[in-house]
Order: sequence, then structure tokens, then C-alpha cells
Amino acid sequence: MLKNFYRLARSALFALSPEEAHEASLKALECGIYPRPLSTDDRVLAQSVFGLEFPNPVGIAAGYDKDARVPDAVLGLGCGFAEIGTITPKPQSGNPRPRVFRLIDDEALINRLGFNNGGHAAALARLEARGDRGGIVGVNIGANKDSDDRGEDYVLGLVRFNALASYFTVNISSPNTPGLRDLQAPEALDELLTRIMATRTRLISDGAPRRPIVVKIAPDITEEDIRPIVERILAHGVDGIAVSNTTLARPGLKSAAAKEAGGLSGQPLFARSTAMLARVYKETGGKIPLIGIGGIGSGKQALEKIEAGATLLQLYTGLVYEGPGLIGEIKSFLTTTLKSGGQSSLAAIRGRHADYWAKQPL
Ligand code: FNR
Repeated sequence: MLKNFYRLARSALFALSPEEAHEASLKALECGIYPRPLSTDDRVLAQSVFGLEFPNPVGIAAGYDKDARVPDAVLGLGCGFAEIGTITPKPQSGNPRPRVFRLIDDEALINRLGFNNGGHAAALARLEARGDRGGIVGVNIGANKDSDDRGEDYVLGLVRFNALASYFTVNISSPNTPGLRDLQAPEALDELLTRIMATRTRLISDGAPRRPIVVKIAPDITEEDIRPIVERILAHGVDGIAVSNTTLARPGLKSAAAKEAGGLSGQPLFARSTAMLARVYKETGGKIPLIGIGGIGSGKQALEKIEAGATLLQLYTGLVYEGPGLIGEIKSFLTTTLKSGGQSSLAAIRGRHADYWAKQPL
């Protein structure tokens, strides 16, 4: 029923440019025009992760609600958590348009937005205004393109949002800010994480709440770099890893827009990001939770991410192609899978196919 409705809505949205359609969907959410789940989440989907109680594992990935305009509507759609951002200290307009492209035949998008966002102050004001409404709202932080000290931009993000963020995602994996991904190089990562974790320690000793910190990585890391990167992340006491951001690869695409520069998301990213997720799961030995992101467009694909090692999930492009009904579809698929297998929690199936996925090519 919701699927049929979205089929109609989708043709209207796809008549607009991708950015106009995105804005229209945000406006609808701001006005409260969106489907609410008919039932509460089954208890088998609930998990305690990073000390936070997630009612279900499905979240919307960063980039949809960059400026914290609709975190409560995202939760109202039935997501177990929302993530705003990426936000940078100063507002910035991003790259010239057009900069988002639909690859309809591939069920994919390419974007080179370049961290267009209204800056810390505007997002902070919106989060302050939502007050004590509850729900898990993560804040994804980044660096301005023209920053002289990118590390300082992340530090500012932590300090400014600590009171309001349920958790932080440190985004060092966007392909659209020149040089940002260099922060993933082991030595640069060491330096950045030293500053970030020292900032958190200082905040805690000043009496501020301890916020979990997640590092979001690219799916384009080479096989040899995975281990040193994961080792550093673990050594610094980071709470979780989000795998993955968009890819610069162009795996066998059919659509004309495949030649556009930028990060590819959606179906063609699924295999690569899941193969990366499983490698990271095996390297971490399951010691810290992973957020599985990339190409989730069905309940089955959500299950595969968990079987590859994910504790939580995020999706974006799948929502563009399938609509918000996908959130409920994933939750019921996971619930039915667990119950029919006699399992009482997602932990029982996490990583059970990690060996298979870790052998798949990147
Ligand atoms: C993104 N993504 C993203 N990630 C991030 O950490 N900060 C950001 O600002 C953005 N911006 C953004 C804009 C657009 C238009 C897209 C499509 C994606 C990446 C996103 O969070 C996610 O990691 C990837 O899109 C892969 O997931 P899907 O889309 O395949 O489900």
C-alpha cells in the first residue's frame, strides 16, 4: 500500500532535479507529512549500543538531514536513530550545481555536494530548539574546505555539540572535500584521533557527558591499509566504526550519469561496502560496534549487513528509490528472520557470514 503510494510520489519527485526533490522531501517532513509506523518495534530489534538504547537498528545516513531540520520526523518515520550533518564550523555553499545525479537504471546516485551546510551555529540552534524530545540523534562532524587546521574543525564540533549529540560521527571519508580522505592515512589518523579523544577526555573532566565517537570510513581503502587503520581506531578507544561512505569506483554502471565525478551510493555500492564491513569486523574481532552503510535497498540486504558484522544500519539512496516504506519493510524482515530462526536478538546472527563477505573482492 505504502509502496504503491510511493510509486506515484516517486514519479513526481523524479520529475524534479535531485536537489529539488530532496528539498521537497525535507519540506514534507518539516510539515509533518509522512507515514507513521502502525505498530511499535518488536523487542527482538532492540539493542543497547554505546550505552544508548536503540529501539531498532535502522537509521538514515548522514547527508539527508545535513542541517538538523528534521531529526524528529526521521525518528517519527520509524527509524531507531537519526544522524544530522555533515556539519562544518562555518557555513559553506558546496560545489556548483548540478552536483547530484540519479543513475536510475543502476538504482544509484552520484553526488559531489562538497559539504554544503549552514554551519555549526544554525544546526546547534535547531537542536537546542528541539529541547528534551528524546530519541537518539547523532551529529556527523566535518571540516571546512578552506580550513587551515582541519583537526581543529572536528575539535570545535565536539565541543559545541557535546551537550546535544547522542553520539558523534567523525567523517573523514567524504570524497568531495579535496584532501579530506587523507586523514584516513594511518599517521594522519593518529594525530587526528589523539586530538579528538583528548578533547573528549577534557570535556568529561569538566563535567560534560561522555559521548560515543564513531569514525566513518571510505569503501576505497586498500586491502593493506585496513589493518593499520582499524588498529589505530581501536588503540585510541573510539567507540564504533561506520562502514562506509560513498565510493569513487564505478563498478559496471549502465547509466549515462556514471561519468559524473563524485561519490557513488546505492545498489552498486552494496557488495563493496559489505565486503569492507566484513573485513573491518574481522579486524576488530567484534570488539566495537559497526554501523553498516551502503546500498541497503531491501530487508534481505539489511540482514546481509548484519550477517557481515553490522550492529546498526544506515541508509540513504535506498529511500530515494524505495521510499520511506523501506524502513518498516526492513524491520519486519529482520523481526521475521529472527523469530523464524528461534533467535531472540540481532546479536545472535551478527557476523555469521563475515568469513564469506570478507573474501569478496573490494
Ligand atoms: C551522502 N553521504 C554523506 N555522508 C556523510 O558522512 N556526510 C555527508 O554529508 C553525506 N552527504 C551525502 C549526500 C548525498 C546526496 C548522498 C547520496 C550521500 C553518504 C551517506 O551517508 C552514505 O554513507 C552513502 O550514501 C552510502 O549509503 P547508501 O546511500 O548507499 O544507502
